Amino acid sequence: MRNILRVAVAVVVFGGAAGSAAAQSPVEKGQQVFTAQKCSICHSIAGKGNAKGVLDGIGSKLSADEIRQWITDAPTMATKAKAERKPPMKAYASLAKDELDGLVAYLQSLKK
Ligand code: HEC
Repeated sequence: MRNILRVAVAVVVFGGAAGSAAAQSPVEKGQQVFTAQKCSICHSIAGKGNAKGVLDGIGSKLSADEIRQWITDAPTMATKAKAERKPPMKAYASLAKDELDGLVAYLQSLKK
């Protein structure tokens, strides 16, 4: 009887955790990745972070593909955009697919 109860509790706890992870939207995921990757060392959103690299409204300026390219291949995009701010942005080549998709969705959501 006791064991059955334990199994039931485990199912509820783990089932609940999996449920909330699945419910997280790409934009929420992107916000977390933006913080975890410390993008705010060089960029600011909503007044938080480095004011030299304001990303408010970036979703109106760049397409989702362009944002994705900045994240995965910043050096190429910086050359194209003639960006001269230092230190330059590195390519974030090792992000998981859901992290990259989340970042793109988050930045795309920042419209003017
Ligand atoms: C070491 C500094 C640095 C870091 C860290 C950094 N960036 Fe950048 N980023 C730059 C610079 C410099 C540019 C060129 C444009 C500028 O001068 O702001 C840029 C440009 C961009 C652009 C295009 C902006 C525009 O106005 O066209 C996007 C989008 C962007 N970064 C996203 C990110 C994201 C997302 C992260 C974190 C994963 C990140 N950056 C981390 C320095 C950085």
